[in-house]
Amino acid sequence: MARTIAIIGTGYVGLVSGVCFAEHGNTVWCVDVDQAKLERLQRGEAVIYEPGLEPMLQRNLHEGRLLFTNDLSQAVRHATVLFLCLPTPPDADGAADVRAVLETAERIAHIVRDEGIDQLRIVVTRSTVPVGTAAMVRERVHALAPAADIRVASNPEFMSEGNAVRETLTPDRVVIGTRDPEVIAMLQELYRPFVNNYDRPLLVMDEKSAEVTKYAANAFLALRISFMNELSVYCDAVGADIELVRTGIGFDPRIGRSYLHAGLGFGGSCLPKDIRALAQSARQAGTPLRLVEHTWQINLDQLRRFADRIRQRFGGTISGRRFGLWGLAFKPNTDDVRESPAHKLIALLRAEGAQICAYDPEAMTSTRRVLGDQIEYASDMYAALEGADALIIATEWAEFRNPDWQRMKSCLHGNIIFDGRNLWQPSEMEQLGFEYHSIGRRSVVP
Ligand code: UGA
Repeated sequence: MARTIAIIGTGYVGLVSGVCFAEHGNTVWCVDVDQAKLERLQRGEAVIYEPGLEPMLQRNLHEGRLLFTNDLSQAVRHATVLFLCLPTPPDADGAADVRAVLETAERIAHIVRDEGIDQLRIVVTRSTVPVGTAAMVRERVHALAPAADIRVASNPEFMSEGNAVRETLTPDRVVIGTRDPEVIAMLQELYRPFVNNYDRPLLVMDEKSAEVTKYAANAFLALRISFMNELSVYCDAVGADIELVRTGIGFDPRIGRSYLHAGLGFGGSCLPKDIRALAQSARQAGTPLRLVEHTWQINLDQLRRFADRIRQRFGGTISGRRFGLWGLAFKPNTDDVRESPAHKLIALLRAEGAQICAYDPEAMTSTRRVLGDQIEYASDMYAALEGADALIIATEWAEFRNPDWQRMKSCLHGNIIFDGRNLWQPSEMEQLGFEYHSIGRRSVVP
């Protein structure tokens, strides 16, 4: 049965979740404090670049199933299930700051109490929150509205940017953290169109395990990437090829093929933040997670090592050198530049006096907002190479894979490429006459 639900916070997770719940026939109140953003959403603008999101947003707006408001009380009045999709930014020591989650839960409790709402309300933490947050939410709402029927559950999301709509509509699994039968029944009903009993299950567990599952998933993905990045340094040293090793291990079904790409390391708004928060939480619990701690350090080292290689190639100094850089987003198919390895690399190179001219298919505007005129912005990928001493690949957009090699050569000052995402084969580059440095593979120097 279609329900009326509320999504509090229309960031990445909230907006995509809200639109997808509406797509399955539910009426969804989306609440945010950002009035300008609400107005854009109301006009059918997706506000983030996410394939497939905008047409779905427009369709559901048109059908009247998506409602945007800054009035939380309206949502609390109408919706039985309220998903908290609020930011949990890192604080000074890396722990996740859950103030927005707790304050919103308290406001919900106030509204329920003050308006005398006596029907069931389920507050679901969907943002990434440290273990124990659902329990804290419960404690706060019960203290403020002891007579109200407010239940609390955890329901972490696992969507990744660029694939968020597809992964939300057809998730690998849905995790529900609660032992309350009524809440389980309600969430099962809501998620029925998204899951099946065959290969996309709905998993019910206690709320702490659900909270840890979210961090464990991201930490494990980060760990795989860091393992491969560290191994790439070893491959480099002993003359092996990390790409061959990747396929050599990836076909083992026990290992699997994804998240084994060596490169400039992982970025984005989730993996870096979440592994630091998990590490901090584990230290607090007196059980440090050493693998997780090292995962982050390896990620930082990988980028520094790449910058070192560039510097060494130019005789120990890159001051006054000009680089064309392809890719600014933290990964392809997004305009998100949060914790982008490309941005971090730019900072390292600029600190040594290099000039950067960059191109990205989607992340030029978002980069300009952060870096302003610290770098130059090219009108297309070839323009970024005009007069450059070398090309640097920082993000593996599909459109970079098959370039016009002749045009590249005529734009570049020399013929040097530093490929931080292993887009091409060393043998191919040898034939094409480029000097080619990549990750964990032999360098080609004609
Ligand atoms: C990540 C998780 O993949 C999602 O499951 C999770 O829900 C989400 O965080 C979240 O917590 O909200 P996302 O941040 O969109 O999703 O990014 P990923 O696709 O996981 O990529 C993260 C970084 O790892 C990117 O910088 C990417 O370039 C890098 N990466 C990925 C590698 O360097 N190698 C790989 O093999 C894969």
